[in-house]
Formats: sequence, structure tokens, C-alpha cells
Amino acid sequence: MATDTKHTRPAGARPARSGPCYIAIANQKGGVGKTTTVLNLGAALALRGYRTLVVDLDLQANLTHCLHGLLPEGAPNMCEVILDEAPITDILMPTSTDNLVLAPAGESMANLEINLAAAIGREQALRNAFAHPALQEFDIVLMDNPPYLSLVTINSLVAAEHVLMPVSCEYLPMLGLKWLLKTIERVRARLHPDLGILGYLLTMYDLRIGITTEVEEILREQFGAAVFTTVVRINARHKSAPAEHQTIFQYEHSARGRGTEDHILLAQELLQRLHLPPRKRA
Ligand SMILES: Nc1ncnc2c1ncn2[C@@H]1O[C@H](COP(=O)(O)OP(=O)(O)OP(=O)(O)O)[C@@H](O)[C@H]1O
Ligand SMILES: [Mg+2]
Repeated sequence: MATDTKHTRPAGARPARSGPCYIAIANQKGGVGKTTTVLNLGAALALRGYRTLVVDLDLQANLTHCLHGLLPEGAPNMCEVILDEAPITDILMPTSTDNLVLAPAGESMANLEINLAAAIGREQALRNAFAHPALQEFDIVLMDNPPYLSLVTINSLVAAEHVLMPVSCEYLPMLGLKWLLKTIERVRARLHPDLGILGYLLTMYDLRIGITTEVEEILREQFGAAVFTTVVRINARHKSAPAEHQTIFQYEHSARGRGTEDHILLAQELLQRLHLPPRKRA
């Protein structure tokens, strides 16, 4: 893969700053596990006692569907928040997991790009919306992104301190990664020089399939320690849990489930990378 390592830098200690840590979960390829990561990493952090906000920025509204079910037509959602037509506090929804709050997407997201294109300060709209004092109560904000380059993705990168990139163990997602790294480079050059890369996460990891080892070798050689040690293994329960509007923790009911285990380990590794202070378990 011809991805250039100059775009990456390891996550370092977080500069002293109040308020939550904002993380964009992104890859410009569909179906790599972005939404599944936001859902279950968010739940893992919440279960550890971190007040976690998960933000649905995808017009497919898959995250909203997983945690809540689709919003009624006309209900305000992240579209109105980004367009500054509603404060974020108007749309926050508790979930069935303590400490886990959802900022949902709805059908109006379909018109967001076109409306945002004409807005002044269009790349900073989400960052401005996140400046609401009520968000100070959160420790971590995870943003779920669409699988294509859009103004929404740019807004997410501008609002983020870090990017976490899920890569499913196939060839094409690595191309999505290459495109995203070019986007990150452009965002750093023009809008947000401090945007950091928190890491690359191997998802749908299945050692029975040869390409898994190939993708892992390529990524670890190319990006070294920036690739999370934790991998998220292939697990059919990740496909079934959304139908029940459940996180993998609720669906597996047991700390021994592999989806549960993987996301507990992922949360631990993420907290280490962020140097966040420990919290009591909820
Ligand atoms: N570890 C896993 N094992 C098996 N299936 C998985 C795993 N992770 C995700 N899936 C399934 O793969 C599909 C794609 O995952 P997901 O929706 O999280 O990807 P995405 O990157 O958000 O996709 P999109 O770009 O369309 O938003 C879903 O059906 C999901 O349930
Ligand atoms: Mg998704």
C-alpha cells in the first residue's frame, strides 16, 4: 500500500484542557466497523464510568438506530445542531447504558450537505455547536462518520482532537484509509494543524482468512505503534445486536463474550493512549 507515513504521528499526552476529549471515528470506506466501534467503544467507556457522548453524523443514522430506533420525521437532530438551528442540548438522548448519551441523526441529514455548503464558517459549524457549556459534563465524545468525504466529515475532523480509523481486514478499506489520510493532511494544512491520529484499529479480524494476516502485516509495518494492539475479532453477534437496539455488552450478557472482551480491551488501550485519569466503574 502506498500510504505515506509522514501523515501519522503517535498519540501523545493530552494537553491540559477542560471539557471532553473529542474523537472522530472515520474511514472513507463503507462497512469497516465505524458505527460498531462508536457504539461499543462508547458503551465500554460508559461502563467504566466515563461520561460518554456518541454523535451520529451519518445520514444512514445507523448509530441512532442501534441505540434508540429511528427518530420520528421532523425531530431535530445533528442536522439542525450543525446548521445552528437548535442547541445540542435539545437533541441529547439518554440510552439504556448509564453514562452513555446519544446525539442522534435524522432524515433531515439528507439536506445537510447542501445547506452547509452555503453557510459562513461551514467547516467550523460542528466545532461551534460543541462549544455549548452543557458538553463540559462529558469526558469523551465519539463521532461516527459517513463512509465518504463530505463537509460533515471535514467538520468532524475540525472538531476532533484525534482520529481513530477502523480498518476491516480486507484490501479495499486500506484504500479508504489512504484517501482519509490525504483528507487529514489537507485539514491539518488549512484548518486544524493539531489534529492527531489516535490509531488504526483492525476490525472483523479473522485469522482463518489469509488476507487478515496480510492486512495486519502491512498496517503494522507502515504505521507501527499507531496500530492498536487490540483487534476486534469477527463476531456474528455484532450483526445481530443492532436489531435488538443493544450494545454488544447487553447482547452478550457475559464478560466472556468475545465482542465484550475486545471492546473492554479497546477501551483500556484508548484510555492509556489518551492518558486520561482513571475513573471508578459505574
Ligand atoms: N467485528 C465484527 N464482526 C462481524 N460483523 C461485524 C463486526 N463489526 C461490524 N460488523 C458488521 O459489519 C457491518 C458493517 O459494520 P458498521 O456498520 O459498523 O460499519 P461502518 O463502517 O459504520 O459502515 P458504513 O460506512 O456503512 O457506515 C454491520 O452489519 C456490522 O454489524
Ligand atoms: Mg456506519
